[in-house]
Amino acid sequence: MCRGTVSWTAKDWNPHDYVPWDEGRNFAAMGGIDWDPEQSRLSEVAKVAMITNLLTEDNLPSYHRTIAENFSMDGAWGTWVGRWTAEENRHAIAMRDYLVVTRSVDPVALDSDRMVHMTKGVHMPVGYGGVLDQVVYVTFQELATRISHRTTGKVCDDPIADRLLARIAADENLHMIFYRNITAAAFDLAPDQVIDLHTGHSTRWSGSLDARRQLPRAPAGRGRAARAPEPPSDPPADTRPGAGR
Ligand SMILES: [Fe+2]
Ligand SMILES: [Fe+2]
Repeated sequence: MCRGTVSWTAKDWNPHDYVPWDEGRNFAAMGGIDWDPEQSRLSEVAKVAMITNLLTEDNLPSYHRTIAENFSMDGAWGTWVGRWTAEENRHAIAMRDYLVVTRSVDPVALDSDRMVHMTKGVHMPVGYGGVLDQVVYVTFQELATRISHRTTGKVCDDPIADRLLARIAADENLHMIFYRNITAAAFDLAPDQVIDLHTGHSTRWSGSLDARRQLPRAPAGRGRAARAPEPPSDPPADTRPGAGR
């Protein structure tokens, strides 16, 4: 899709170009040594952020099922669902390769968490469904993942992780722009319906953010609850059409 001289199409990239393979070495099953916490260069916050983002990406089969049901697999929608799924799959591939090669997190715990997470899958709220509901929801969701990846890249304090997550965030930005354009067009056709869905999803998102902000607390007996750190602001330039190229 083009508007003037600005390309809105995704630029292909390869996960292997973002992973420092020269840091890799065998684990014990192949004569090397297994993971030890001392091997990680990430802070505890960065580890949690990375694992959360990766497990979120890992649940792609659930997301694929949901958008295929709501958008359908016919015609242009089917092409989009397939392409989107393939692009999203790159994200988990690249992040897992980075984490395992750099020994940033425990690979055994990571896969154990993936098994639990994917077995449970994603369950949408009661009453959720239909193309409009799906479009409005994913507009929020893609923006949220863009911010989450960019913020995690900064928290990692590693230029390799930052570059990788900036690349992934650029994909999420294009996804967000695509869905946002459809939502904007839907406002012209069915404003009351779209504003209802918009209000419902934004209330749900802000509710979950409020809940997450209350999670980090000081240990018992050490005074008031700690305030969750504010994430670094997302670069405004990312919102420009074509910024994900
Ligand atoms: Fe993604
Ligand atoms: Fe995305």
